[in-house]
Amino acid sequence: MKRLQMIRKKEKEYHDDCYENLELFKPGSWLHKPVKTVMDLMCNFESLDTVNVLDLGSGVGRNSIPIAEILKHKEGKVVCIDLLESAITKLEEYSEKYGVSAKISPVLSDIADYMIPNDYFNLIFSVSSLEHLESEERFDDVIENMLYGTKKKGVNCIIISTGVRETRMDTGEHIEPMYELMFETTYLNEKLEKMYNNWKVLKHTVKPYEVEISRDGSRVLLESDE
Ligand SMILES: C[S@@+](CC[C@H](N)C(=O)[O-])C[C@H]1O[C@@H](n2cnc3c(N)ncnc32)[C@H](O)[C@@H]1O
Repeated sequence: MKRLQMIRKKEKEYHDDCYENLELFKPGSWLHKPVKTVMDLMCNFESLDTVNVLDLGSGVGRNSIPIAEILKHKEGKVVCIDLLESAITKLEEYSEKYGVSAKISPVLSDIADYMIPNDYFNLIFSVSSLEHLESEERFDDVIENMLYGTKKKGVNCIIISTGVRETRMDTGEHIEPMYELMFETTYLNEKLEKMYNNWKVLKHTVKPYEVEISRDGSRVLLESDE
């Protein structure tokens, strides 16, 4: 099996399992809470009557559902892209449960295949998903499309892992990370600086991140910069 297919298979197994067995907003997993950096951005749109948001790699709506709640009394929608059926199905269920299904537009698609309309979104964000695009060329195209798809005074937020390492917790063995794109931190910083050269930077941080995950039934420590 080619590397890309193998990574996609393992990522699918991992996420299908999470989405089936972990409850959104229940303590004890990464689905517990929305990401503060993303939620903090919503104050930028308080004065607008219509707000359109795009969540690339939305999963089950950890960030999009709270955003939809904030936007409940405005026009506009939160468009949620994910390539896994398990993510989109659960997103629809949770949107119903939390009373925001009218504000959420789920789209089953690879991020790279989704045509972002020009000059349309006030906020485009992606949490831990753009590192799963199939090539650097596709990554560059997506960022270009994000730039064109964002309205004047709009915001882009990219949270992405770089410098990724995976270690089996039982043996300490380093294993090949199951990431399609393995950017080094400095390299990606410089690339994004160039691509966003005429944009105002609201926030830029690089923080160590670690999470325990499961690979082939083994406990694996995933470490990265984020
Ligand atoms: C680590 S999860 C994060 C989900 C969500 N952003 C969050 O913060 O809860 C990554 C998600 O991105 C999705 N994903 C990965 N690669 C993708 C791609 N190329 N196109 C669309 N979705 C993708 C996965 O299916 C998964 O649901």
